[in-house]
Amino acid sequence: MSVHEGVKFLQISDSHLFNNAGKQLLGVDTEASLRAVVDLASKEENVTGILATGDLSQDGSMESYQQFNDIVKSLGAPVYWIPGNHDNSDYFYHPESFPLSSRSVIEADNWRILLLDSAIPGEAYGHLSTSELDYIGKHAGDDERYTLLVLHHQPIPCGSAWLDNMTLDNSDDFLQLIERKASIRAVLNGHIHQARQQDIAGVSFISTPSTCFQFTPDTEEFSLDTRMPGYRRLILMQDGSIETEVVRLKSFDLNLEPKVVGY
Ligand SMILES: [Fe+2]
Repeated sequence: MSVHEGVKFLQISDSHLFNNAGKQLLGVDTEASLRAVVDLASKEENVTGILATGDLSQDGSMESYQQFNDIVKSLGAPVYWIPGNHDNSDYFYHPESFPLSSRSVIEADNWRILLLDSAIPGEAYGHLSTSELDYIGKHAGDDERYTLLVLHHQPIPCGSAWLDNMTLDNSDDFLQLIERKASIRAVLNGHIHQARQQDIAGVSFISTPSTCFQFTPDTEEFSLDTRMPGYRRLILMQDGSIETEVVRLKSFDLNLEPKVVGY
């Protein structure tokens, strides 16, 4: 559905749900904070789809994905997901009885969205396999459609040393491929639990807050931020630009654990 000559997607990221509702991570009731963010997002109109950019689950359990789907489906739009380092990426390739959409090329107006798997089982950093790079090469055509790439790990440094130890380890290959594909206008990631946007040579690199706890930007070491959870609205415009804004909860009792030093 068109919105002001563009199509609207919402990015929801890093909800870190458990198999049981009510469990806390770093003090935060992750299920309750996701519900609050989705409740806020329910005011959005004309949403074409939800982009869930990884770490939907903290424990990789089927129950946590069912719960994610139960909460987010209330937005009334298809939910597309990619795996993060905490997810069970088997479900990305074997979606039988899995509640969320299997991988597909999303086409909306004159945009194409490619969902990528950068997760490595058991590792916090990311990698795009040859097959993922080939997948981009095959689908990001040099046609009239603009392309948005979606992956969990940040492909460029975010400025926090401890998070940039968990980046995409072959980002050079990825960035070279982007350079060769003129249709690619933006790259969307999760993982870093903070909102950033950096434009490099006509390509926007965009991340979004987590729906639970945030990491303080530009820190050497692990640091929890007191900023509120939220989501990102993206309107993919017909001219290839993107209008985007982060929308945060006004207030939420995060109950962040004091003195926590790691994650
Ligand atoms: Fe995360």
